[in-house]
Amino acid sequence: MSDQLRLQELKKKIKEADYHYYGLDNPILTDAQYDSLLKELIEIENIHPEWITIDSPSQRVGGVVTSQFPKVRHLEPLLSLDNAFDANDLRDFDRRVRTIAPDAEYVVELKIDGLTVALTYEEDILVRGATRGDGEIGEEITANVRTIRAVPLHLQTDSLEQTIPLIDVRGEGYMPKESFLRLNTYREEEGLALFANPRNAAAGSLRQQDSGITAQRKLGYFAYQLLQAEQLGIRTQAQVLDVLSQLGFQINQNYKRLITIEEVIEYCGQMASQRHSFAYEIDGLVIKVNNFDHQRELGYTSKSPRWAIAYKFPAEQVETKILGIELNVGRTGVLTPTAILKDVSVAGSTVSRATLHNLDNIRNKDIRIGDYVLIHKAGDVIPEVIRSLAEKRDGSEIVFEMPNECPACGSEVFRLEGEAAHRCVNISCPSRQKEAIIHFVSRDAMNIDGLGPAVVTQLIENGLIVDAADLYYLDFARIIKLERMGEKSAKNLLASIESSKDRGLAGLIFALGIRHVGVKAGRVLATRYGTMDELQMAGETELKEVGDIGEVMAQSIVNFFRDQGNQKVLAKLQEAGVKMTADNLVTSHILAGKSIVVTGTLKKYQRREIEQQIEQLGGKSSSSVSKNTSFIIAGENAGSKLNKAQELGIPIYSEEEFERIINR
Ligand code: IVH
Repeated sequence: MSDQLRLQELKKKIKEADYHYYGLDNPILTDAQYDSLLKELIEIENIHPEWITIDSPSQRVGGVVTSQFPKVRHLEPLLSLDNAFDANDLRDFDRRVRTIAPDAEYVVELKIDGLTVALTYEEDILVRGATRGDGEIGEEITANVRTIRAVPLHLQTDSLEQTIPLIDVRGEGYMPKESFLRLNTYREEEGLALFANPRNAAAGSLRQQDSGITAQRKLGYFAYQLLQAEQLGIRTQAQVLDVLSQLGFQINQNYKRLITIEEVIEYCGQMASQRHSFAYEIDGLVIKVNNFDHQRELGYTSKSPRWAIAYKFPAEQVETKILGIELNVGRTGVLTPTAILKDVSVAGSTVSRATLHNLDNIRNKDIRIGDYVLIHKAGDVIPEVIRSLAEKRDGSEIVFEMPNECPACGSEVFRLEGEAAHRCVNISCPSRQKEAIIHFVSRDAMNIDGLGPAVVTQLIENGLIVDAADLYYLDFARIIKLERMGEKSAKNLLASIESSKDRGLAGLIFALGIRHVGVKAGRVLATRYGTMDELQMAGETELKEVGDIGEVMAQSIVNFFRDQGNQKVLAKLQEAGVKMTADNLVTSHILAGKSIVVTGTLKKYQRREIEQQIEQLGGKSSSSVSKNTSFIIAGENAGSKLNKAQELGIPIYSEEEFERIINR
């Protein structure tokens, strides 16, 4: 099959899979199958960039950098909703509705706590995504919106009776609780400012200048409004949801058609008691009059429709007491204070600890040991102290002070200017080392199964390991002696440690816990350098020139490799047989089967480097242009080879174009 036909086929298959996953809620492919189709598609597009269309699934990977978001005027303004806070407010709403539309019925939907995102499709293709802004004018965030898998890039319009050239859809962009927890945990470790809730995190992610970051944040989208509904012959909100789903959107399945307001009130109560069981945060329900004729009769006030209302859940805050404040030293040496609380039930579970983030937060909220406090769960998942109840003090409360010495190793504690975090100076602080090992084995790093924090602690306390490299020197006789370690789990643990040796360079770089180097940077560095040795030799200036690596990260990388202790760990890892080269399985296909000629003077690469790069990616670098040449990379002062390529009609790429192809 020709590449072009295969590309069409892949697009069709991926689109079908998206539709089944999001539109029908009935996946037909496993994640691995899906990823492998997507990878194949990207490979073909890499070879033929001229075939890339804006509705290609490859556009979800992100990587587009926007310096500012252009303003766009919404086709129709985005209105806000009136709020109801209890059953009586809902009954009042119902009375107002029934005076005008006595036999109205309702559609009740979950109110997802995210932000409105307006989507525009021209000829079925997503051409624009925009934020709400002031309701009239929003910001264009199309590149970022494309990374959300629940947003179809191409509408599934076969089932519509007519085609319409323009379709506007509105819905809620949100961050799932799990992504929110992961993001904030990472940010806390890095001493970065935390997001207060998934809504802020989603908003921040959609306003990223680099859509690659948005892609990593794994946002979701639930569609609930279709502006051209009436043109399509749609008469009710329930039909809107149905049609949206047929078009390939994900709609929230927990909606209900109900007739009386008492039924609505009961459903609201039911959802309120289940609110913590959803994978995303909800802050209430939206009650809409179902029939468009009724909606039209009811009309609008100056700022909101009279045919809908938002029922808001009461904020969940409970009172408890701070029994003590504990300090935990993380892998970057940050001392994080945690409040030990009198057990209390909030947002569906018992809470006994809450992070206090840092000393500034404790001071700003004037939180003292022994205080009664109000707590809630940020984003429904992270227990947090809202404020202290100073009026309840009896004078026995104790003001918390940061110690001058690290509670884990006794070394000096310092605070950098401009940073909220206090840190331990000692890079080999045992607590840091433990956290570093926990990070090393975690899923995105070396992914060693069966090695949770508890086992790591046991291994350290029994003197079996000091650093991450020691893991590769464990043997059965020693680990079987650990408490609660059975023969089977010991064997499994050794097997997963063994198989992690082949994890590949990208995972290993991330696992090392170099400050500021996240999963993506690990991948970028692995692709660029190919081996740990090459990476270690890179200087700051050179690193800064690698796309996605900024000054702070470059410095941090250089410092990491300069450290004697880190060098020793690396040597031990190498000695144990941990793979220190880029995983060819991942990158080798990109240029597979391609014969590439490099000519002229390049700006960034030495000739040898770029040739090595081509070979690592599965291509063949050749010195002469023939009709078998797939494409040439032309630098400055390119001469006869460039002319020959032009004559033969062979594609010619600049260095930058080549980089864009391989870094995608
Ligand atoms: S309907 C005129 N439906 O809640 C129709 N809004 O003020 C207006 N929201 O920020 C919106 N889930 O983004 C609607 N199922 C849902 C919703 C929903 C969340 C948000 C919306 C807006 C606010 C309503």
